[in-house]
Amino acid sequence: MLTEKMLKTLNEQVKKEAYASHLYLAMASWVENQGFEGIAEWFYAQSEEERVHMMKFIRYINERGGHAIVPVIEEPPKDFPGIKAAFEASLEHEQMVSGAINDIVALALHEKDFATNNWIQWFVEEQREEEDSVQRIIDRLEIIGDHGHGLYVFDRDIMAMRGTH
Ligand code: FEO
Repeated sequence: MLTEKMLKTLNEQVKKEAYASHLYLAMASWVENQGFEGIAEWFYAQSEEERVHMMKFIRYINERGGHAIVPVIEEPPKDFPGIKAAFEASLEHEQMVSGAINDIVALALHEKDFATNNWIQWFVEEQREEEDSVQRIIDRLEIIGDHGHGLYVFDRDIMAMRGTH
């Protein structure tokens, strides 16, 4: 059984993952409207991944005898100041999520809930990979600039950067 505190914390994480999925979906839609189909694909795929994360939390909570709550999701921004700015906002968001995952690890260890500690380790690794992948994109955009020909090439190649570490 999960403690009340763990149940509440895991349900808060459901909401964070749901918001992340919404945020990436908003970025995908905005980017697609700017005419960058490859970058939009990247954000659409990211949004799907975040939905999978949310589902993992929902299923885990219920499996452990808790009640996973499907949350109201806050409306994400509609517009973003630029392509690089959108990725910077993504990185900031991922860092916040990593902090929340680390807090769950700390709580699990504090409560001697080793099952949750084991289960959450997948997310620890996933967050490390996500931060790394967004950082590499920002680094690339810093080199090529986020306009003109460089961005056209980047839009063509970005999907190839998924899952290559
Ligand atoms: Fe599921 Fe990227 O946080």
